Amino acid sequence: MATGLHVDGLDGRVALVTGAARGIGRRITEVLRDQGTRVAACDLEAPSTPDVLGIAMDVTREEDVARGYDQVEAELGPVDVLVVNAGIFVIEPFAETSLASWQRTMDVNLTGAFLCARRALPAMRERGYGRVVMIGSSAGTTGGAKSVAAYAASKAGVMTLAKAIASEYAGAGVTSNALAPALIDTEMIASMPDMRGAVPVGRLGTPDDVAAVVAFLCSAHAGYITGEVVDVNGGFLID
Ligand SMILES: NC(=O)c1ccc[n+]([C@@H]2O[C@H](COP(=O)([O-])OP(=O)(O)OC[C@H]3O[C@@H](n4cnc5c(N)ncnc54)[C@H](O)[C@@H]3O)[C@@H](O)[C@H]2O)c1
Repeated sequence: MATGLHVDGLDGRVALVTGAARGIGRRITEVLRDQGTRVAACDLEAPSTPDVLGIAMDVTREEDVARGYDQVEAELGPVDVLVVNAGIFVIEPFAETSLASWQRTMDVNLTGAFLCARRALPAMRERGYGRVVMIGSSAGTTGGAKSVAAYAASKAGVMTLAKAIASEYAGAGVTSNALAPALIDTEMIASMPDMRGAVPVGRLGTPDDVAAVVAFLCSAHAGYITGEVVDVNGGFLID
């Protein structure tokens, strides 16, 4: 599906997107590709998006991240744009959350972001240019619906990580921002009750709604925006 979206400054750039096999990450990959960006799509199994380099990368594994980045740099060049999107969403009562389950959510949603950003930023600083976007969640602001404590805490962490990188790298030509989506129609929320009635704009969000904001934040138009968390939630949370 084409959005007809066009932004300046992405043509010829190299982008790496995590969690890119389906849902929001897949759409971000397609929208960046359609701006002329050379995109590496990373997921547990290499995604097969047309005209995109597919990479198998578990973001929790430091060696996977290193190998994946090495391959992207060799085949596409240094990474200008990093989109941290891989995530898992586990619903379980807080008191029943095992340490292993807590740690798995933290590993994917927060440590994965750390590993990818730590690998990406030195080359961005060296080249004086970079765009980092982290996909957080409105749950990271509110604590979420009931029984998503680990997810909410991990998303608060990733949104704050984006801000910390912003302040450390603002002088190096690198912007770093986060998104806080809610109720985007993907497999991630398929097991939840239908929530569209709770969204003031009257519909669920789409991966396009998220991808368009990512493309804007990665574009030449957004060079003065850093350390920001952009809500993409149809008015579900107005703060
Ligand atoms: N759908 C929503 O309503 C919603 C709301 C707020 C935030 N988000 C966030 O948006 C992002 C994308 O969500 P989505 O709705 O497209 O979900 P999704 O479940 O459809 O896609 C998530 C992708 O991440 C990949 N992934 C999981 N663990 C990974 C790992 N260890 N290494 C690499 N890839 C891994 C999965 O294989 C999958 O392709 C997530 O970070 C999610 O938390 C989604």
